[in-house]
Amino acid sequence: MWTRGARSRDRVVRNDPALYDRLADQWWQPRGVFAMLHWLAAARGRLVPPAPRPDAVLVDLGCGAGLLAPHLIGKGYRHVGVDLSRSALRQAAEHEVHPVLADVLAVPLADGCADVVVAGEILEHVPDLPRAVAQACRLLRPGGVLVIDTLAATALCRWLAIGLAERLPGLAPRGVHDPALLVDRTVLVRECARHGAHLTLRGIRPSLTDLLAWVTGRRASVRMLPVPTTAVLFQGYGRKQS
Ligand SMILES: C[S@@+](CC[C@H](N)C(=O)[O-])C[C@H]1O[C@@H](n2cnc3c(N)ncnc32)[C@H](O)[C@@H]1O
Repeated sequence: MWTRGARSRDRVVRNDPALYDRLADQWWQPRGVFAMLHWLAAARGRLVPPAPRPDAVLVDLGCGAGLLAPHLIGKGYRHVGVDLSRSALRQAAEHEVHPVLADVLAVPLADGCADVVVAGEILEHVPDLPRAVAQACRLLRPGGVLVIDTLAATALCRWLAIGLAERLPGLAPRGVHDPALLVDRTVLVRECARHGAHLTLRGIRPSLTDLLAWVTGRRASVRMLPVPTTAVLFQGYGRKQS
């Protein structure tokens, strides 16, 4: 059995926070083990609207090394990044991200401080989904926008995102995901609604032609395309009630 945070039978410690320090030199490598995070950050950035006012704040939960930063240029936000990894936050700060060393389950920022809250590839790493959603919604001001991308708790996702992707270069480092933490979409939507944010989900996947061109060195990055199912990788977009 795979168990949360434990050594699984494939001898990998899953969802180990130390992985991000061990792989710290990989964050900004477009062909490194975090390559797919760059493609996802571009897709996530497209969901972020221009800042609605001067001094608008975007809180990036589990910001890592700040890969979202280039996709916010010109949008007008003060980009605040929350993460547990010091080495990642140091790199994020080099990309104009204001770093906050904290757990996304207990964020030391004021209620309603954010015009936008982003949770990109973080919800599938936390042991308490309702609490993470409550924090995200607490930080959002009324009328603020919530942008999420994460992995669905399905057998198909376990096979594709863990069984397959962790064996292919650039898609996901070995051990990064714990199947027990993949996100139940019904719980996610319900918890967002409970805190006043009505979330719409849509599935995405890498373009297969881009992926082939990227693998063979003919493309620098891979576009994420919409798909009719949210059963693997999906984005969520919603607004908190005014
Ligand atoms: C898969 S990476 C995603 C990083 C970034 N959002 C991106 O897409 O490039 C997950 C990040 O979440 C951070 N993380 C994991 N659990 C966390 C927690 N409970 N609180 C804060 N950060 C956490 C890790 O340190 C890592 O930087």
